[in-house]
Amino acid sequence: MTSEPTSESLPSFPPGFLWGTAIGAHQSEGNNLASDWWFAENQPGSRVAERSGDAIDSYHRWPEDLDLAAGAGFLDHRFGIEWSRVEPADGRISLAAVDHYRRVVEGAVARGLRPMVTLHHFTVPLWFAAGGGWTREDAVERFLHYVDALAPVLDAGVVRVETINEPNIVAVLPQLAAGQADLADGLPLPDEALTRAMIRVHRATVGRLRARHPGLDVGWGVSVQDYQPEPGAEDVTETYCEPRDQVFLRAAEGDDFIGVQTYTRGRIGADGRAVRVAGAQLTQTGWEFYPAALGGAVRRVARVVGGVPIVVTEHGVATADDTERVRYVTGALRSLRAAMDDGVDVRGYFHWSLLDNWEWGHWGPTFGLVAVDRTTFARTPRPSLAWLGALAPGAR
Ligand code: BGC
Repeated sequence: MTSEPTSESLPSFPPGFLWGTAIGAHQSEGNNLASDWWFAENQPGSRVAERSGDAIDSYHRWPEDLDLAAGAGFLDHRFGIEWSRVEPADGRISLAAVDHYRRVVEGAVARGLRPMVTLHHFTVPLWFAAGGGWTREDAVERFLHYVDALAPVLDAGVVRVETINEPNIVAVLPQLAAGQADLADGLPLPDEALTRAMIRVHRATVGRLRARHPGLDVGWGVSVQDYQPEPGAEDVTETYCEPRDQVFLRAAEGDDFIGVQTYTRGRIGADGRAVRVAGAQLTQTGWEFYPAALGGAVRRVARVVGGVPIVVTEHGVATADDTERVRYVTGALRSLRAAMDDGVDVRGYFHWSLLDNWEWGHWGPTFGLVAVDRTTFARTPRPSLAWLGALAPGAR
């Protein structure tokens, strides 16, 4: 399969711009037995359609994964640390798990990759969830206890930390899990108590990391789609975006970066609800194929927290056609560069995802630059891996 258009048709990015790949812990590692998601997935009558199971066995195959990212030319890589492995029982830190993540960080550094780690990506230890989860009174204290235990990992060469992946999605997870909302219809209103809790945990974690690991760049990654009013509808910024993502963006004030995670646009009607665009091409996740969403998203982020440098910590497309992936990313990068030309301070781009992985209940959507055989775990690079890697400084 050929990948057109080629990198020649892409704008160039400034020297020092971060080019990375991204992957999450629970979606790739496999057998995260002590997590709340594992528990939910394996309950009789679970709402989770397909289990994560062995995932793509990245807990063991991480050297191969890092080889693929570094071999393609990337200099940055984002991956997750799984709290439920590090603290499988309340107060019991697994030194072996900490050591595992320390080796992954060292392995990345040895391959010339600057590690960005995500401390929380949707999953928590079952004991934490069973005790009330993020709204428990001791949530900050319990999370910081985990963060403190990661000192050997962070000191092994981590460059950037994303404290929490998509706190605004975390704040709607209970509604999604209960089947009360479907993301394809727009983002439900985040739970207010969860919103406050996520912001509290983030601020406390930034403070702790700055005190103990002053060299780290710390931020969090918010799910920001390009929300636009339906023709004829009012501006949606205050009504729709403010509670759904902007409140989380504002909480990044003073951080080293704000992570932006964009996949599509949302058209919001006069009644404040998302409207499907008639006849629009859809991706495997049912989201509109709309490459320019990335530029629209970072422009809005800059209007909300202009003083905080933006890093695109996730962007990609679920498609079975790799040529389409190249087309999507090409359009997105053009829109990103145009926003930068207009003054938006964007410092890097991490592609979601390096490998096909478990998509929160489904194995169907394929976001990867690399395909994975779910029986043998064999990794097969798609042409888009070399194509995107060729833009990274490591390839030049
Ligand atoms: C999440 C990823 C997910 C991706 C595509 C983001 O919301 O952080 O875990 O796989 O979007 O749905």
